[in-house]
Amino acid sequence: MNTPKQRVTVLGSTGSVGVSTLDVIARHPERFEVFALSAATRVDEMLAQCAQFSPQFVVMASAPHAEQLAEKLKRNGLKTRVLMGADAVENIASHEDVDAVMAAIVGAAGLGPCLAAARAGKRLLLANKEALVVGGELFMRTVREGGATLLPIDSEHSAIFQSLPEDPSTWARRIDKIILTASGGPFRTRAPDTLGAVTPEQACAHPNWVMGRKISVDSATMMNKALEVIEARHLFGVSPEQIEVVIHPQSVVHSMVQFTDASVIAQLGTPDMRVPIAVGLAWPERIESGAARLDFRQMASLTFDAPDAALFPGLGLAWHALRAAPGTTAVLNAANEVAVEAFLDRRLRFDRIHAVNMETLETVTPSKPASLADLLALDASARAAANAAALRFAA
Ligand SMILES: NC(=O)c1ccc[n+]([C@@H]2O[C@H](COP(=O)([O-])OP(=O)(O)OC[C@H]3O[C@@H](n4cnc5c(N)ncnc54)[C@H](OP(=O)(O)O)[C@@H]3O)[C@@H](O)[C@H]2O)c1
Repeated sequence: MNTPKQRVTVLGSTGSVGVSTLDVIARHPERFEVFALSAATRVDEMLAQCAQFSPQFVVMASAPHAEQLAEKLKRNGLKTRVLMGADAVENIASHEDVDAVMAAIVGAAGLGPCLAAARAGKRLLLANKEALVVGGELFMRTVREGGATLLPIDSEHSAIFQSLPEDPSTWARRIDKIILTASGGPFRTRAPDTLGAVTPEQACAHPNWVMGRKISVDSATMMNKALEVIEARHLFGVSPEQIEVVIHPQSVVHSMVQFTDASVIAQLGTPDMRVPIAVGLAWPERIESGAARLDFRQMASLTFDAPDAALFPGLGLAWHALRAAPGTTAVLNAANEVAVEAFLDRRLRFDRIHAVNMETLETVTPSKPASLADLLALDASARAAANAAALRFAA
């Protein structure tokens, strides 16, 4: 092949999406080259990735992890340069030698690097949904003004993207409704009054997907779907009323678009993140992802159902936040990150995550954030309010 290799930076390379991204990249050495990687704490995993992919740069979130990694790289005769901190992550996301950036950091910590990549006009593969939920309009405007190509990696949004015509200028007049599917997570059939006893291990045991701990808990509460509703509103320019969520426990139909003529187009596949990652890396081409193929002859049934509001009270907060003052989605995201962390640390009961989110939304009134600094200040005040709420609701 004569086309030059795409040079890729993978942010959050030691996580679930990061590892899957490197798996797809490794299948196509003629197409892709790893320019830089970033992670927070997992030094040994990063060492192994450096040995396999020889990136020019690696960024670790803190000095102790960066120092440990630098020492191990040296001992192993590896030449990758180690940097540290948030500014360095933004630099590897916007570096002039980079073509594509996989944004797979978890949480609002990914917003700065996403904006840096967008400003620099990169091909931005967005797994980090929290960055878009926090950044909202500012994020989308930065993508437009920077001339970046934004490709959704969340399997649902990739499914919608694949179901839509290639020309985004036609979307507004053609889309009637976006239908996001949700597996319902591990507690889909539980009685709501039994959720207080749920442990982090149970919440992280997703029936269909293997994912990081934060998104696994979000899937169990369906806050993940609430964040995805907000993400879909921004990515596809639809109103909150045009987004519907259905429970589809088999996770075969990854989402659907209903068009103005009442046709529905869906994207199907096995639940494997390497599929949307391969779509994002190769778009508009298609490349091997390594995922298993669907066998329709073995498929017993595909079912669809309405979500139970008593079991998943957090889902409705998406529409509430989208209709409320600008910045409310950033408050919701911060509250939820704090509440999930408290639950994973066994400081908060599973069924009180929603209470923390509600109380934070009631306490913090956003004043139209116009810049990254405004958003970070709003994020910080929402986190302070959520931490106070988490203490009050503590187990
Ligand atoms: N997993 C999925 O199947 C899936 C599907 C759709 C969307 N997503 C989205 O993709 C993102 C990543 O999810 P994941 O499941 O891959 O998460 P994960 O397994 O927890 O990985 C998160 C990655 O981010 C790094 N990280 C964490 N905090 C950081 C910080 N403050 N600064 C810099 N790096 C940081 C971690 O480093 P260390 O591990 O080294 O500490 C790790 O590399 C999330 O936004 C999630 O919602 C995930």
